[in-house]
Amino acid sequence: GTSADFIVVANRLPVDLERLPDGSVNWKRSPGGLVSAIEPFLRSRSGAWVGWPGVAGEEVDPFEEEGLWLHPVTLSAREVQEYYEGFSNATLWPLYHDVVAPPVFDRAWWDTYVQVNRRFADACAKIAAEGAVVWVQDYQLQLVPAMLREQRPDLRIGFFLHIPFPPVELFMQLPWRTEIIRGLLGSDLVGFHRPGGAQNFLWLARRLVGLEPSRGAVGVRTRPGVVQVGDRTVRVGAFPISIDAAHLDSLARRKDVQQRAREIRADLGNPRKLMLGVDRLDYTKGIDLRLRALHELLDEGRVHAEDVVMVQLATPSRERVEQYQLMRQDIEREVGRINGEFSRVGHPVVHYLHQSVDRKELVAFMSAADVMVVTPVRDGMNLVCKEYVACRYDLGGALVLSEFAGAAAELTSAFLVNPHDLDGVKNALHAALTVDPAEGRRRMRALRRQVLTHDVDRWARSFLEALGAQPAS
Ligand code: G6P
Repeated sequence: GTSADFIVVANRLPVDLERLPDGSVNWKRSPGGLVSAIEPFLRSRSGAWVGWPGVAGEEVDPFEEEGLWLHPVTLSAREVQEYYEGFSNATLWPLYHDVVAPPVFDRAWWDTYVQVNRRFADACAKIAAEGAVVWVQDYQLQLVPAMLREQRPDLRIGFFLHIPFPPVELFMQLPWRTEIIRGLLGSDLVGFHRPGGAQNFLWLARRLVGLEPSRGAVGVRTRPGVVQVGDRTVRVGAFPISIDAAHLDSLARRKDVQQRAREIRADLGNPRKLMLGVDRLDYTKGIDLRLRALHELLDEGRVHAEDVVMVQLATPSRERVEQYQLMRQDIEREVGRINGEFSRVGHPVVHYLHQSVDRKELVAFMSAADVMVVTPVRDGMNLVCKEYVACRYDLGGALVLSEFAGAAAELTSAFLVNPHDLDGVKNALHAALTVDPAEGRRRMRALRRQVLTHDVDRWARSFLEALGAQPAS
């Protein structure tokens, strides 16, 4: 594994290190949509993955895991704080998600972001074979493409952003905006979920790099889908990501999974209707908004606690970042309020689990749920809604989906809502809870047609093809 032809570089490895009390190491699956999208694909290509093992200060040698070469990058406690929790998740994350929380601009964090990006670029340069394809992932590593190209002009470098790319007037707030655009322009192909993200990037490349002759000798010109950097061509486009739909479909069809789905409903007291939310606990996900909508529906008697149970699975995430702590308090207070007012002993209305749940269990929950509620105020794509659709081979269930998730552009047969419009969310929840079965099946059939034909393999292939790097299958 010293010289790889196909390399993914991402902040996280697909597995998270866990140090057990006896000092031994256990590897768990990493959270988030990026890993669930890329991992199955890369495994089938026996590539290498450069990433952080998820714990500060851990030095781990490269190792092979089921056909995948994992190359851990070590981060110190300070780097985790300044590069990961700080610049990545308290500056870029809120800025790119429409400043739904105020981004913090801190110069020391930026310096550490630069340093850590260099470490990832160096690690990758060391293991890449001559002419290898390198696929850099997401907002934590936007400087890696240019840093890598500087050392290794022989590589083919693709970059994909898994979160929204913001409107230009928001991006322009970033004191290091030009450096970020220059970093991304080190790629041969820059990919976004939505055409709007690509448009924003093209405008910024022209504005920030093109009109700044003093910053470098090469001129930058753009035309639709292309930035010309001197004699180098950088392609820019939209590639909506997806899931391994066939795999989820077949998991959902398993007898043991269906049995588990029935058990879950029984454990919940066989409610007439089961509503489900599945999210990383993140302020972009609108968990608070859907709880508020449920609260009002119960208050007004449009929904009854004897009929409806809601399960909210909230995967712990970025727990040391202040905005995440504030959101957690908000959500837990609202769960307490609803249960305090409407539950009976032994029958809470909202079941809230601040835990990560394994894949099979998740599929069982999705199979059991009558209404899946996905209400982010901003989300690059959102894969949970696609997973729900892939699980519903029975054409049962209804999906309530925010217009501000990238997936809304594809899943037009969902009950689409503006999550900020509380009355709209209430109406959509109510409509989904009471939908006529034939109408429900019609919607689910249309959703499944979209999701099953646009899976993650197709996404990865179209990206790599545009990169001019489609590996033999
Ligand atoms: C989102 C991001 C990923 C990230 C994941 C989990 O999906 O786009 O880059 O890995 O969230 O977040 P975490 O901070 O735990 O890696």
